[in-house]
Amino acid sequence: MQKVLLTGASKGIGQEIAKILFQAGYKVFITARDENALQNTPSAGYLAGDLLEENFINELIKTAEKTLGGIDILINNAGSYIWSPIERTEQTDIEKTFILNLQIPYQLCQAVVPNMKQQKKGRIINIGSISGIVGEANASLYSASKAGLLGLTKALALELAENNITVNLISPGWVKTALTADAFAEENNFSETEQIEIIPQRRFIEPSEIAQLVKYLISDSAKGITGQNINLCAGLSLG
Ligand SMILES: NC(=O)c1ccc[n+]([C@@H]2O[C@H](COP(=O)([O-])OP(=O)(O)OC[C@H]3O[C@@H](n4cnc5c(N)ncnc54)[C@H](OP(=O)(O)O)[C@@H]3O)[C@@H](O)[C@H]2O)c1
Repeated sequence: MQKVLLTGASKGIGQEIAKILFQAGYKVFITARDENALQNTPSAGYLAGDLLEENFINELIKTAEKTLGGIDILINNAGSYIWSPIERTEQTDIEKTFILNLQIPYQLCQAVVPNMKQQKKGRIINIGSISGIVGEANASLYSASKAGLLGLTKALALELAENNITVNLISPGWVKTALTADAFAEENNFSETEQIEIIPQRRFIEPSEIAQLVKYLISDSAKGITGQNINLCAGLSLG
C-alpha cells in the first residue's frame, strides 16, 4: 500500500485529495492546524499543528514515518492566499507567505527525498496556482511564492529523475474554498460574478478535479511525467 504525506488536509482542495486517495486505497497521513477537521477527514493518521511553527515539520515527518512505515508520496498542498497591492503589503505577510507557500514545501521535499532515493521510487506533487504561472494583479506576493514552486519542481525533477522519483506541479485556477473568500471579499476589487465572467469555461474548478489529477500523477501510469506544470483552470491561463 502506497504511503502518502499530505499537508493542508483540513478543508478545501486538500480535504478532497485526502478523501479520494483514501477511497483509492492509499495510506494517507494528514496535517493542518484544525484538529477537529482532521479527525473528520479519512486518513491513516494525523498530526495537528502550525507549519509556520519552528520544529513542527520535524515532528510531522517523524510521526508520519512512524505511523505509515515510510513516505512514498509527498503532496505539498497547504498554502495561503493574500490579496495585497504591493504598497500595502506588510513585512510579516511577506515572511509568512514565502515560508508557508515555498520554504515549507522545499523543506518537506528535503526531508522525504533521502528515503525515496534509497527505495528508488517516489512521487512529489506541489500545488501551485495559475497566479504563479501568468501573474495576478494585487497578488504579487502570492504569485511570487507560487512561481517559486515551478523552479523547485523543475530542478528537483531533473535532480531525482534517475531515482525513479517524479516531481510535478498542479496550478489550479479559481476553486471556491475558504481561501478564495479573501479574494472575493467586498473590500477587495473584484466580486465572484466578475471573476466568473473572465473564466473561459464560466465556472470554478471543483476540488475533486484537482484530487483526480493528483491521483493520476502519483499512479504508475504517470511514471514518465516529471518536471511538468499542469494548469487546471477552466481556460483562465489562456488569457
Ligand atoms: N482555492 C483556489 O482558488 C486556489 C487556486 C489556486 C491554488 N490554490 C492552492 O491550493 C492549495 C489549497 O488551497 P484551498 O483553496 O483548499 O485553501 P483552504 O481551503 O484555505 O485550505 C488551506 C489548507 O492549508 C492549511 N493551512 C493553512 N495555513 C496553515 C498553517 N500555517 N499551518 C498548517 N496548515 C495550514 C489549512 O488548514 P488549517 O486552517 O486547519 O490550518 C487548510 O487545510 C493552496 O496551496 C492554494 O494556494 C487554491
